[in-house]
Formats: sequence, structure tokens, C-alpha cells
Amino acid sequence: MAKAAASAPGKVILFGEHFVVHGNPALVSSISLRATVEASETGREGVFLEGFGEDNPAVVASKHLLKKLECGKGLELKVSSEIPQSVGLGSSAAVAVASAAATLQLCSNELDRSLILEAAHEGEKVIHYTPSGIDTSIATYGGAGVFSKSSGYRKMDFDLRYLLILNTGKPRRTGDLVRKVKVFSEENPDRFKAILMSAERIVEDAIDKLKSQDLEFLGKLMNRNQELLRLIGVSSREIDEAVSACLNAGAYGAKLTGAGGGGCVIAMADYDKLDKIAESLRKKYSVIKAALVVEGVRSETPTSSP
Ligand code: PMV
Repeated sequence: MAKAAASAPGKVILFGEHFVVHGNPALVSSISLRATVEASETGREGVFLEGFGEDNPAVVASKHLLKKLECGKGLELKVSSEIPQSVGLGSSAAVAVASAAATLQLCSNELDRSLILEAAHEGEKVIHYTPSGIDTSIATYGGAGVFSKSSGYRKMDFDLRYLLILNTGKPRRTGDLVRKVKVFSEENPDRFKAILMSAERIVEDAIDKLKSQDLEFLGKLMNRNQELLRLIGVSSREIDEAVSACLNAGAYGAKLTGAGGGGCVIAMADYDKLDKIAESLRKKYSVIKAALVVEGVRSETPTSSP
């Protein structure tokens, strides 16, 4: 029976999470942690992933493709991932994208990225309330750039290399936080509108400063972005403490990344200081120095496989 495998990267949202759900642009980069999915033909109908039910993003993405391509295969999926789950690094999107790509290789032997994105988005809907599409887009296309719901993902050519990712150790559910922001926006329409405008301005300034690699200014923009996220209620005590720890350790700026409520914090500093800052933060946190701007979805099928 045939097998195929594919991998896709996790992501960090540098600026603009949550506001992107409400139509704003956000800046996002892929990171050097990947999820891999192997799909094996089983000879029995259905898509199976051991330990998970029908409502898993990888299963839904694979099934969507099988149906769309009228590909009558039964598949068993195996997932292995370097991306920590439920902490804002796009783990479920990377798994859904890798699953769609592995399935696609078995059905049509090619990596059509728009089909992969469509299938992975269906998978994401199962666990994320109203996904903007940012996570699945970056996992599919890789690199770094701007995403908005109306224009999709536009890759940009900037040379941002590394940042630190701290895990607060508190898992949370993206859907719950997206709902919380929706309630905030409905109860405080004028305030939310003003916050959206400030958030958009931050993204515009960041695009400018990314071109010139002004890490200090970018760090300050992160602090401003974090303040807006705090105002809409998606920060937490753990995040605030982690942000302060990063700043005290010498980072230019720090903010939550992804949905917040817990999960991960990112910190920006001069590249030659990152190791030292990471070392001091490791006394309390699990810290990754992540490389940014990596390859999107790719085949991991050994060339000798049928
Ligand atoms: O925490 P994550 O990796 O699920 O990121 C979610 C990003 C949000 O902007 C909060 C939601 C979205 O769909 O864009």
C-alpha cells in the first residue's frame, strides 16, 4: 500500500493577531519548527488518526480533499510535530496543511498549494471559532509577510532572522479568546474601532522598520501592540509576567503571539544578545531561539516510495 508524507512550519504573529479577525492586516512569519504527517493507504474506507476522532483538523483536511478529488482511498495518518500545541504557534494549522499535502500526493501526486490551503482551512474551522486563515496561509506558503482576510497572504522580502519564543506553560483555546474579543467589540464599538486603527498603524510602521532592520524600533512597536492586546482582554497574568521578564533581561520589546490568554510570548533583541537573554530567561521559562522565514509545506515522501 502506498504512503506519502509532508511537513509544514509553525508560525509567529509578529503584529496584529485578533485584529486580523476583524479585517485588519497582520504581520506573520514562519518558524523553524515543523509538523510532519504521514498518510498510508489502508484499504478500508475513512481517515483515521490514532487517539483522535473525526473532528481533528488533520482528519477533516484529508477528508475534504478525498471528497473534492473523488479519490476513494482510505487513509491512516501519523503525526509527529516539533511545534508545542495550544500555545499560539500554529500547531493545528501546520498539522492540517501537512495532512492535506500528504493526502494530495497519494491522490494526484502534486502539491497544489491552493487546494492544500482550502482543505486545511476546513480543518482549522473545527477547532477555531472563525479562523482568519492566517495560520493555514503561512504554513502553506512559508516565508513571512502580511495577511488580511480580504487580500490573503502577501509574502514580503524582509530579512528578519531570529527571535525568542517563551512558553508561559498555560494552554488555552483560540476559539474562546476569539469569542471574548468579539464580545468586547460588540460592547465597546467606538473604543474597539480606535484600537483597530492603532493596531493597523503599528503594522504599517513595522513593515517600514522591517525593511531597515530597526530591531529597537520594532521592539517598541511590539510593546505598543501588547498594550492594545491587553486592552481587549487577551493578555493574562502569566503573559504580563513573561513580557516583563523579557524586557528586564534586555529585550527591546515583547508581546503575546497568537490568541493569548496564556501560550507563548515573543521577544525581540539584537541577534548577538539573544543567546544571553535566552539563558537568563531559561531559569523560569522554556525558551526557543527560533529562526524565522522558512520554507512552507513540502513533501517528505522518500523518493524510493511508490
Ligand atoms: O493562537 P493561534 O495560533 O491559534 O493564533 C490565532 C490567531 C488569531 O488572530 C487570534 C485568530 C485568527 O484566526 O487569526
